[in-house]
This record gives sequence, C-alpha cells and structure tokens, in this order.
Amino acid sequence: MKKDLSAIEAKYEAQKIAFGPMYFQSVIALRDLGILQFISNHRKGVSIETIIEQVEVSEYGVNLLLEAAEILGVVEIENDVVKISKTGFFLLKDEMTRVNMNFMNDVCYLGAKNMTESIVKGKPEGLKVLGDWPTIYEGLSILPEPAKTSWFEFDHYYSDNAFPDALKIVFRKKPKLLFDVGGNTGKWSFACCDHDPDVKIKVLDLPVQLNVAKGNATAKGLLDRIEFHAIDLLDASQKIPQGADVIWMSQFLDCFSKEEIIQILKNACQAASENTTLFILEPFFDNQNYPAAHYSLVATSLYFTIMANGNSKMYRLEVMKDLVVQAGFEVVETYPLIGDSYHTILECRKKQA
Ligand SMILES: C[S@@+](CC[C@H](N)C(=O)[O-])C[C@H]1O[C@@H](n2cnc3c(N)ncnc32)[C@H](O)[C@@H]1O
Repeated sequence: MKKDLSAIEAKYEAQKIAFGPMYFQSVIALRDLGILQFISNHRKGVSIETIIEQVEVSEYGVNLLLEAAEILGVVEIENDVVKISKTGFFLLKDEMTRVNMNFMNDVCYLGAKNMTESIVKGKPEGLKVLGDWPTIYEGLSILPEPAKTSWFEFDHYYSDNAFPDALKIVFRKKPKLLFDVGGNTGKWSFACCDHDPDVKIKVLDLPVQLNVAKGNATAKGLLDRIEFHAIDLLDASQKIPQGADVIWMSQFLDCFSKEEIIQILKNACQAASENTTLFILEPFFDNQNYPAAHYSLVATSLYFTIMANGNSKMYRLEVMKDLVVQAGFEVVETYPLIGDSYHTILECRKKQA
C-alpha cells in the first residue's frame, strides 16, 4: 500500500474496510449462485440480459451482485457486456483462493464479530457459533459441516504442499522411530510410511484427534507401524515419551502462545537425547515470496484469536528460533521455503551441556 495517499484516496480505502464484510459476502453469492462461472464460460463476454435469462436468479439479484463485483474488480462491464477479470478468474479457479474463501466463510465469518471480546478475554469467543469447546482442537473432528470440510481443506492445503521436500530432509539420516506431534488425521505419518518401509511412527495428539488418525491408519493397514499416544501438551505434567530419532512438529507450534511454545519445547527437550532431531515446519509470515502469502498468514493469526484458542498466531522466523533456544535446543539448519510451499523447516538439536 502506498504511504502518501491523498485525503480522497484515504477516504476510499477507509470505506473498503467499512463495507468489506458485505462485499465479501456478495462475491460468495456471485460464486455460489453460479453467476461467476457462467460469465467465465463466455471468454469474449456475455450480456447482462443473457445472464438474467440463463442463470436462475432475478434481474434484481444479478444486477446487484454485478454492480458490487465491478467495484471489486471481479468483473469488467462495458456497454452491458460482462467479462470475468483476472481477479475473478483466481476467485473461481485458484485452489489457494478457494480454500481461503471457504475457510473464511464457513469457519470464521460468524465468529469474527467477537474479535474485540476475544482479545480482551484471551479466549476464542467466536468459537461458540460452531460448538461448546474451550478451543477448536477439542472439536475438530466433530465440527458441524461445512465448517469441518473447510477447516481440513485449509489445514491440508498448506501442509500437503510441503510434504514432498520435507520427507527428503527428514529422512536424510534414515530415522527408525519418528514422533508426529499434533499428527491430526495422520497424513504426514502415512506419507512417512510410504516414503520409508522401515520407519515406525508414534502419533501424539489430543484423544479426539487420535480416534480419527487411528481409523485412517486401520483403513490403510498401518497399525503394525503406527502407534498412538494420547496427550494434552498444555498440561506440563504429561510428558512426551523418550526414544524418538525424530520429533516432528508440523503447523503445530503456531497453535500456541509464546509461553506455551516454550513449555512444549521444553517437554520435547526432556524427551530428546543427543541423537534426536527436532524438526519444526512452519509458515513464517515474514519469510514469504509473495504478498498474497504474507496477507493470508496474517489473516490466519486472526482466526487463531477468534476461533482457535484466543492466544496463538503465525510467527516471525526469528521469534520462533528464539523460543527454540530458550527451551534448550539449538537450530542447526534452516531450510527456507521448501518446494512449492510457504514453509520453512528448522532442524534443531538438544543443546549439549
Ligand atoms: C493445525 S493442526 C496441524 C496438523 C498437522 N500436523 C498438519 O501439519 O497439518 C494442529 C494439531 O495439534 C493438535 N493439538 C492442538 N492442541 C493440542 C494439545 N494441547 N495437545 C496435543 N495436541 C494438540 C490438534 O488436535 C491438531 O491435530
């Protein structure tokens, strides 16, 4: 954003914020009513009259949504002929945009009204629109639809892209036993089993998540290679067991406040030997190549505030490195922006006395 706006420009920018939520919903309606797809099917443009005739939406509805879409730059209109713009194309076809839009609409939108209260109380006050849990993690596998599908698509979209390169890094030293901390549905553990036929895994997560991971592992016939360890890592008395060659934390530490991260990493430190490698995979918002990624990650922090737990966020790379050191590890290697993903891997070792 340029800094030296004129007063007229600044006033316009302020209105974009004031009316932002309603414009957002107008694009959801344009998409869900099939109008955007219909326009996109006519590369050379299509008349407003034809749109009204062909899609089952009133003249009032079509005109209203097109007027909003034109302001947003989602469509271009000239002499009553409508064409999809580049932005409109991304809204319709780009996977990251689809996943982000659905996450916003299905998981965050209603709860976002509780932003101020969430910050004041340090609790996810918006979460009550989805269910009665202290944090979203107790409810993940039992979220109402469409929130559940949108949450998992959002989570998996970001971590899945990182897996192929992450596997190469993590398996360089051929670990025999890997702990997947916050292993969720088990996707990473299954990818590890595919990658190395000898590796054994222990998935550590809250009990409600382990039920899902265990069900998935059963379906894949992997119960002889994957064990499950129920743990609440916010309870410092619950110890991570010893014996891992690799402790893996993927998109996990961003679920916690700085104080909680230190506590969890200290727990990992007591479980680690001098031969254990701790790998942390995180999307750091200040270490991105594209402004769309930085923008999305900062918005994800706001989701943590209102819906997830009220006290966590996406972090800067150096902040996470500092927490790692405070907990008793040293960062021996940093792998920035691996593969096609938004993630950095920190390879850490227990600091030797
Ligand atoms: C954002 S998901 C990350 C999932 C997966 N590792 C990935 O990269 O897609 C965070 C995971 O941490 C787990 N989790 C959250 N709070 C936890 C806690 N207090 N103790 C143990 N696991 C927790 C959640 O159940 C969830 O599976």
